[in-house]
Amino acid sequence: MNVADSELIEGILQKEGFLQAESINDASAIFINTCAVRDHAEAKVHSRLGNFNRIKKEKPDVIIGMLGCMAQNLKDEILENKPYVDIVLGPDSYRKLPNLINNRLKDQKHIVDTKLSRFEVYDGLFPSRKEGINAWVSIMRGCDKFCTFCIVPFTRGRERSRSPESIVQEIEQAISNGFVEITLLGQNVNSYKFNGFDFTDLLLEVSKISGLERLRYTSPHPSDVNERLLQIMADTPNICNSIHFPLQAGSNKILKRMNRTYTKDHFLHYAQMIRDIIPGVGISTDIIVGFPGETEEDFQETLDVMDQIKFDSAFTFKYSSRPYTKAIEYDDHINEDIKQERLERLIELQKEHTLIRNQELVGETVKVLVEKESKKSDKYWSGRTDSNKWVIFEKGKVNVKEIIPVRITAAHGVTLRGQIEGN
Ligand code: 5AD
Ligand code: SF4
Repeated sequence: MNVADSELIEGILQKEGFLQAESINDASAIFINTCAVRDHAEAKVHSRLGNFNRIKKEKPDVIIGMLGCMAQNLKDEILENKPYVDIVLGPDSYRKLPNLINNRLKDQKHIVDTKLSRFEVYDGLFPSRKEGINAWVSIMRGCDKFCTFCIVPFTRGRERSRSPESIVQEIEQAISNGFVEITLLGQNVNSYKFNGFDFTDLLLEVSKISGLERLRYTSPHPSDVNERLLQIMADTPNICNSIHFPLQAGSNKILKRMNRTYTKDHFLHYAQMIRDIIPGVGISTDIIVGFPGETEEDFQETLDVMDQIKFDSAFTFKYSSRPYTKAIEYDDHINEDIKQERLERLIELQKEHTLIRNQELVGETVKVLVEKESKKSDKYWSGRTDSNKWVIFEKGKVNVKEIIPVRITAAHGVTLRGQIEGN
């Protein structure tokens, strides 16, 4: 989401005649687009701001701006403790950036704008994308789910969706600029709704755009995944057979405390439905360990769900207390060592599952989109399967952006090895 927002901000600035500097040392303004979802993300921003401060000490005219979720969340602290930050802008205020830079050039006052909007979806603005394979296209913003651990509803505000027309127009432009894969984005992507047009309607509409080889989306909420969506994914060739299906926790007690609105059984039922309806599907997930009140038994339930589903991959996190959220008020927070120990056990189990899922593909021929040269050798390409797994294979006569049949020859950890069929 932040990559997409940064491209949007760059597009807004370019439209007004601003140019990207060759390097940070040549820049007359430096912006950092921030994430507040976990403490760790914020710590990285604080350390980066320290570097910007050193630059500003040498070049006092440089404008420093902090944009996005942390700006929303920490504006008072920034103004008080980091006076070298000139501009603080929340996620619904990016349109104002060109004007605010010009204001700041005229006046030394700090500029803060973190008002959230019920309507801003940045329609009619085109993000500045580097030439590539995948274009991120934001289709909705904000979140109304209020999971009790999550700061997003507070930093990004209420859910609102873009019109299908403007989404289609942006995708057509991205394709004419050479992109072959589109990932539809939203904090809660499948809550998309525009005048009765829902997420599945949109997915189907977008899939018809000519030249679109692959269509993905992220991140859905399990409560908004339904049979019609899965059927359309299965029946439409350019919609990838990969789905992010965030578990967060396995025990009903913790899921309820998280306000996730589904139970363990509901989640297992839908995970099975995903595997039954979409052939060869890859399922990824997000899991949090050490949510307040999580006992060893609760944690075992998370491991049990993992054992039953065997996710293809997982993003795993230690619970991090976030301001404004309900979970911060619980009085049974888990000690850091226990969180760490649970995280390590979870990662070990996921590694086994990833290997099992990847080994199932050995001997199979799958369609791979050639994306880039392998980091290991210039004789190899790396590309992704429809189900979102990286494969490395000898270059042969194919080129980037082609979709080709690759026979999987080995699975080591997360990466697959393969051979172009017929080579
Ligand atoms: N602590 C740990 N992980 C979190 N996430 C969101 N908020 C928190 C938090 N307070 C994770 C969730 C979500 C992913 C984007 O980040 O797993 O799905
Ligand atoms: Fe956060 Fe939950 Fe909304 Fe996802 S659905 S952005 S985890 S509140």
